[in-house]
Amino acid sequence: MAGSSLEPAGRAWWRHAAIYQIYVRSFADGDGDGTGDLAGVRARLPYLVELGVDALWFTPWYLSPLADGGYDVADYRTIDPAFGTLAEAEKLIAEAREHGIRTIIDIVPNHVSDQHAWFRAALAAGPGSPERELFHFRPGRGVNGELPPNYWVSEFGGTPWTRLDDGEWYLHLFAPEQPDLNWAHPAVRREHEDVLRFWFERGVAGVRIDSAALLAKDPALPDFTPGRDPHPYTDRNELHGIYRSWRAIADEYDAVFVGEVWLPDTERFVRYLRPDELHTAFNFTFMACPWEARRLRAAIDETLAEHAPVGAPATWVLCNHDVTRTVTRYGRAQTGFDFAAKAFGTPTDHALGTRRARAGALLSLALPGAVYIYQGEELGLPEADIPLDRIQDPMHVRSGGTDPGRDGCRVPLPWSADAPYAGFGSRTRPWLPQPASWPSYAADRQERDPDSMLCLYRAALRLRRMEQGFGAPALGWLAAGPEVLAFRRDTDCSGEALICVVNLGREPAELPEHRAVLLTSGPLDDAGRLPTDTAVWLRG
Ligand code: NOJ
Repeated sequence: MAGSSLEPAGRAWWRHAAIYQIYVRSFADGDGDGTGDLAGVRARLPYLVELGVDALWFTPWYLSPLADGGYDVADYRTIDPAFGTLAEAEKLIAEAREHGIRTIIDIVPNHVSDQHAWFRAALAAGPGSPERELFHFRPGRGVNGELPPNYWVSEFGGTPWTRLDDGEWYLHLFAPEQPDLNWAHPAVRREHEDVLRFWFERGVAGVRIDSAALLAKDPALPDFTPGRDPHPYTDRNELHGIYRSWRAIADEYDAVFVGEVWLPDTERFVRYLRPDELHTAFNFTFMACPWEARRLRAAIDETLAEHAPVGAPATWVLCNHDVTRTVTRYGRAQTGFDFAAKAFGTPTDHALGTRRARAGALLSLALPGAVYIYQGEELGLPEADIPLDRIQDPMHVRSGGTDPGRDGCRVPLPWSADAPYAGFGSRTRPWLPQPASWPSYAADRQERDPDSMLCLYRAALRLRRMEQGFGAPALGWLAAGPEVLAFRRDTDCSGEALICVVNLGREPAELPEHRAVLLTSGPLDDAGRLPTDTAVWLRG
């Protein structure tokens, strides 16, 4: 795409971008039918410009039965009619670009929908057919093949195998509606390379790769005992060849990748970020950190140290459509990561969570690298409680009803306090219910309140673009108490530095020497000190 090639390599846009994640179904409803759509996004582009983000990452917008919120893709070249049309997507990409905002789409290579033409053909063609070779079909074990082909566990819980009437089983690491593709098959590789080109031709500047470390499987699909056996489907070496060929395609278009790579082993993780593979990957270590100075500092140091040798920028993520919203997580005694082990009715102090989420926003936006903001984070939305009979996430059902699932962070956004459905745009009830408190978080109300979360994000994103210190490639820690995170980012040329201080302790913290206070997440105390759970940006 035009633009990025004009910048010096070290300052390429994706190395320091603020990227806003749009969960289309819940962003804004343009046609009033209860589901968010592309018309809703187009109408809200001025809001995103005003917010000051550099790129939009759209969770899957393709044709889908929505068995897993669109991560069950039936056709990559068609926009789901609930969201709009391909022509509208093209318009949206172009309009956003006119405003200086790039588009990142979501590709889900590990699996397709059971309604995808390939899987339907495989079902129709029957056992032993070439159509079935695009997936992982196997006979069962046991006398009559009544037992699954192996004893793996689905990422959503339970067995990852489903048996068909013809006796064969097929593999799905996620829900049964998401059959896994066979990446050893050349047609699977060809098809995905073609899909990448299809979207790059339409002006897309980047691709988020879903479940990026799961695609390749041990062809024997052997039983797996964690800790004993090599992993048969996570982080297999074949993946690097796949991503190298993807990278060559992206380079033709000056486009970039962000991988969803969940790997605790950092040495293995950064192998995906070598110069001829993915440009970036999500930093789940940081997101998983509880609100503790020692853990956060260790996560920051580890992240920067692991990225440095491969020359890839870090990413900073506080939340996404899979985890409990930040305000709620930080307002709980146990604030660690909770993708798959949520519980109903966990006590939450929302005021505390909000204070910390404000400070956390200034922390993540001050770190060197790219930063992701999940829609509604800028409004300080808490996780919503969804009535049992309205829960849609397959994770809930597959946990046997013990896990509330991920719907609580996917609730339609509140735009106007006084409009029906908090201004989401629907004329009928939205696909997920909004809590009674939603109007108090509405964007129009927050716009008028200088102390709101929205105004904090706007101010922070504006400073992040303007202040010289944010251009510094690295950070240096400043001496501070064990409960205080304090660092500077010094520029080589201007002599100006950005200083960020976050106080996670109980006592107020003295500010380091500085030239000016740029922004605080809450007021300083009467003695000019930084109160507990508060962050400040200083010009040094
Ligand atoms: C990760 C996505 O973020 C999540 O929402 C989805 O359920 C799984 N991958 C399966 O595609």
